Amino acid sequence: MRLVLLVVLTIGGAAIAGGSSDEAALLAFKAGISDGGMSGALASWNSSTGFCRWEGVSCGNRKPTRVVALSLPSSNLAGEFSPAIGNLTFLQRLNLSSNDLHGEIPPSLGRLQRLQILDLGGNSFSGAIPANLSSCISLTNLLLTFNQLGGRIPMELGNKLTHLQKLHLGNNSFTGEIPASIANLSSLQYLHMDDNQLEDQIPAGLGNMAALRQLSFQDNRLSGILPASLWNLSTLTVLAANSNKLQGSIPAKIGDKLPDIQFFGLAENMFTGVIPSSLFNLSSLTTLLLYSNRFTGFVPPTVGRLQSLVRLYLTSNRLQANDRKAARLDRKPVNDTTKAIFGRQ
Ligand SMILES: *[C@@H]1O[C@H](CO)[C@@H](O)[C@H](O)[C@H]1NC(C)=O
Ligand SMILES: *[C@@H]1O[C@H](CO)[C@@H](O)[C@H](O)[C@H]1NC(C)=O
Ligand SMILES: *[C@@H]1O[C@H](CO)[C@@H](O)[C@H](O)[C@H]1NC(C)=O
Ligand SMILES: *[C@@H]1O[C@H](CO)[C@@H](O)[C@H](O)[C@H]1NC(C)=O
Ligand SMILES: *[C@@H]1O[C@H](CO)[C@@H](O)[C@H](O)[C@H]1NC(C)=O
Ligand SMILES: *[C@@H]1O[C@H](CO)[C@@H](O)[C@H](O)[C@H]1NC(C)=O
Ligand SMILES: *[C@@H]1O[C@H](CO)[C@@H](O)[C@H](O)[C@H]1NC(C)=O
Ligand SMILES: *[C@@H]1O[C@H](CO)[C@@H](O)[C@H](O)[C@H]1NC(C)=O
Ligand SMILES: *[C@@H]1O[C@H](CO)[C@@H](O)[C@H](O)[C@H]1NC(C)=O
Repeated sequence: MRLVLLVVLTIGGAAIAGGSSDEAALLAFKAGISDGGMSGALASWNSSTGFCRWEGVSCGNRKPTRVVALSLPSSNLAGEFSPAIGNLTFLQRLNLSSNDLHGEIPPSLGRLQRLQILDLGGNSFSGAIPANLSSCISLTNLLLTFNQLGGRIPMELGNKLTHLQKLHLGNNSFTGEIPASIANLSSLQYLHMDDNQLEDQIPAGLGNMAALRQLSFQDNRLSGILPASLWNLSTLTVLAANSNKLQGSIPAKIGDKLPDIQFFGLAENMFTGVIPSSLFNLSSLTTLLLYSNRFTGFVPPTVGRLQSLVRLYLTSNRLQANDRKAARLDRKPVNDTTKAIFGRQ
């Protein structure tokens, strides 16, 4: 009899411990945030109901009850991100995108080993990405676009986040190299690094990322030769390399190499060589941006074959037209929605 009582007490105690520590972590989060007042997103975060019913909070079915998701995108949240969120150790989804959170991303998030989705895009976070995020080994989506993050991209991310499918780092102020370790992310499908200050060469290993569908690093300071291995990424739909200091040329057999490509952008770099006619066999192409390079030779008459093309910019190269109908270069675009535009955007 005494034993049974003890067991009941222990289970009850655990329930209170797990639940109340999650509640304390949520209240610590709330304490650091202003939500715009009375009718704000956090108004329901009070003792009149259990925390599982607070706006944006979802709990799992297990006992003791634990928070599995915190989702408050576009909720007018302003303030600093409490490190106490690292105590929500059953969290799987954290979406605080499009708010006005600032300060640093707390390293305590590294304690969230069940976290699959971390979306902090569209805030004002600053400082570096804590290397500790590499301990979030379940992450599939790490989305940090549109913040004021800086410093180097931690190479630890590449070594441990083996489930990562989306890595969005665009529109920040990251510096230094693209870490070669990123090539270890064999599940990665979307790698976006646009609008940063990344420099030096692009690691050739990126060409081994067999799952990659979108690779974009426009508007950086990347230099050297675009690794030839990237032409081996046959599942790419987006290759966006515009506005860097890259060199190299387009392989003659591009038409066989990137069969699904839709967005192909090498504009504002230092590419040389001819524009291969096989490029115009890529029937999925909607956007082809090659302006402001050092391409030479003739614009192939096959340009007319691209049925899906919406944007085509080839100007500011050393090209000549050899087909009156296909290529009238150095003309201002008459109408941005026409199929083939030979202007500069
Ligand atoms: C978070 O967990 C740490 C360590 O377990 C504890 O010291 C701290 O008080 C907790 N914070 C909150 C707000 O619950
Ligand atoms: C507490 O939350 C409930 C909804 O759960 C809400 O109706 C009520 O107005 C809140 N109370 C305060 C004082 O904000
Ligand atoms: C976060 O929420 C926004 C708004 O609902 C949504 O568009 C976005 O896809 C979510 N992020 C993730 C990773 O699901
Ligand atoms: C970093 O992550 C580790 C592993 O989860 C954790 O033990 C540690 O407390 C975290 N660091 C901080 C500063 O929270
Ligand atoms: C990033 O920000 C810049 C300047 O604020 C803007 O021009 C650019 O369009 C943004 N990039 C994306 C992908 O929206
Ligand atoms: C990840 O990549 C780096 C650099 O390319 C390499 O040295 C390292 O051995 C790789 N780690 C794993 C776990 O594959
Ligand atoms: C591209 O792939 C082919 C076949 O797998 C391989 O032989 C070649 O070395 C690769 N090229 C580069 C530059 O990685
Ligand atoms: C374009 O595709 C056609 C049909 O698949 C093929 O016969 C032709 O050789 C290709 N052209 C180039 C330049 O690769
Ligand atoms: C561009 O052309 C489309 C289709 O011909 C037309 O509907 C549109 O009004 C034109 N836009 C401008 C700015 O002239």
